[in-house]
Amino acid sequence: MIRSIVVENLRGIKKCVIDDLRDVNIFIGRNGAGKSTILEAIYIASAFANKHDVLRNVYKFDYVVQRRGGRGNWNSFRDTLWFLKDVDKKIIIELKFSTGNTLRFTLINDVMPPPPLYVWPILLEVPRKVIYPYEEGVAYIGRDSGDQLAVWNPVHRAIVSSLDKRFYESIGSELEYLKNVVFLDEKLPIHIIESVVWRKVLDKRLDKPILELIREEYEPEAEGIGFKPSGEGFTLALMLPNTSIEVDSLGDGAKIALLYAAILSLLKDTGVLIEDLENHQHPGGLVTLMRFVLRLAKERKLQLFITTHSIELINIVKKLTEDVGLGMRVYYLERDRSTGIADVRAMESTDIEILQKLGLDPRLLHIL
Ligand SMILES: Nc1ncnc2c1ncn2[C@@H]1O[C@H](COP(=O)(O)OP(=O)(O)OP(=O)(O)O)[C@@H](O)[C@H]1O
Ligand SMILES: [Mg+2]
Repeated sequence: MIRSIVVENLRGIKKCVIDDLRDVNIFIGRNGAGKSTILEAIYIASAFANKHDVLRNVYKFDYVVQRRGGRGNWNSFRDTLWFLKDVDKKIIIELKFSTGNTLRFTLINDVMPPPPLYVWPILLEVPRKVIYPYEEGVAYIGRDSGDQLAVWNPVHRAIVSSLDKRFYESIGSELEYLKNVVFLDEKLPIHIIESVVWRKVLDKRLDKPILELIREEYEPEAEGIGFKPSGEGFTLALMLPNTSIEVDSLGDGAKIALLYAAILSLLKDTGVLIEDLENHQHPGGLVTLMRFVLRLAKERKLQLFITTHSIELINIVKKLTEDVGLGMRVYYLERDRSTGIADVRAMESTDIEILQKLGLDPRLLHIL
């Protein structure tokens, strides 16, 4: 589990530190406060363990550039990621894990491929030097990328590679966590969910609880979820008593619930980044969907990072995390637009409750 995050020079954030993260982390704050940027920071870091976004079939570095506005790719638009487009600075993303290890990733302005990006993991608390890989035949040694040594000698290279192996072994669980991180937003392509995710869902017969979720809130008469012929291939559809409806034609609330439920059912011991989860959900749907999501989070050890503008979502998660026995916290982000310093105020469940009992809205902390 990620315990704390430091982000530097990423989009609107010059610097932001978030400590004491929990099982469920909700980010609130005004438009442009930097909530989505925090999710993007974790997503970028996850590219170190797996550069490919399996849900979208793209490189994560391309998607993080594309997701705002949909133009270009890493090579053509990467400068948009740097604070004030100052690409001479380094983007730094530091994640401290509950294992005690801290990984610091430094993004350097360079084209891909190869390598897509130089991402440097550093075990900060290792007092001596650690080794991390660069290109074939060259390794950098040091506690920071400023402290470098090229290794050409074959004997030295053998030493480097054995240290390298030890290094990777020592961060095995962190890499496993990062490898499986998913980013859920409204731009999930349904055909990949159909072909990749649903096949795995069926292999494990995880479709039954998903059908229950859909029946409970969205389509009470649904009898099943299955593939039906469509053009050259097959498309996922909801079976109703008198017809079948392609998942893509369902209401947005039901479609998102089905996609998210399918994806989360397959994950374990990792982080899930969710943008504006309340979108398209009726409050009743939000309760049902969150109950499903939080039950999975508990069972499958998923750490959630959610951005929202919804007080209903905050209150629903507060109540349900208490029921299920998960830790939760709400982080109010406030960003100084000229300096880019993002200030974070963390609120426990009890703080949220007290504020509301006093008639105060935690989303409006800047004027309280
Ligand atoms: N390269 C950049 N340099 C400086 N500022 C940037 C850069 N790219 C984006 N920004 C600013 O960062 C902010 C976007 O932050 P972000 O999208 O994380 O906010 P948010 O809290 O998710 O907002 P919302 O609630 O609207 O979704 C905007 O104010 C934008 O102008
Ligand atoms: Mg946002």
